[in-house]
Amino acid sequence: MKLYLLPGALLCVALAGCGGTPDSPGAKAAHERHENFEAIGKAFKTIGDELKKDAPDLAAIKAQTTKINGFAPQVKDWFPAGSSPKDGVKTDALAAIWEQPDEFGKASARFTEAAAALDAAAQSGDLAAVRGATGPLGAACKGCHERFREKD
Ligand code: HEC
Repeated sequence: MKLYLLPGALLCVALAGCGGTPDSPGAKAAHERHENFEAIGKAFKTIGDELKKDAPDLAAIKAQTTKINGFAPQVKDWFPAGSSPKDGVKTDALAAIWEQPDEFGKASARFTEAAAALDAAAQSGDLAAVRGATGPLGAACKGCHERFREKD
């Protein structure tokens, strides 16, 4: 059967989604951070959707700001050695993360700060403050993606 003659990397492309060794620690880290970022994306969207309503559900918003605030300080640890595109891992993370750790650290810290501010605003129950705090958070997502994530 011809498939067996294909080099491993090509076989991986054919099967969609394995990078390096599929269950190497690096590939696992990339998979986990993908799931976590998806959760962050969903949480942020829920907040935006609530804020568009005439009567936003503050409890729903609080649950999501708490979730994002819990994830934010962890982000800097989601990119261990061995999980970069240069390791053959399937990821949208750019090698710049590992090449410019100080800059990436700053982008993560900015996110942590903005997430804490948004959560504090939500816990205070002040919807205007919540609205105000979503801007800097969105800018923190965007700033990091522009520099450190593969363009769509
Ligand atoms: C410090 C950098 C950084 C910040 C801040 C950040 N992201 Fe990301 N995000 C990334 C990187 C890098 C990836 C690609 C991860 C991968 O593919 O391994 C990513 C991926 C994603 C994905 C797609 C899932 C995936 O893994 O491809 C979504 C959705 C996402 N981010 C949403 C957000 C939202 C919403 C925020 C802000 C509330 C945010 N991110 C903040 C760096 C960041």
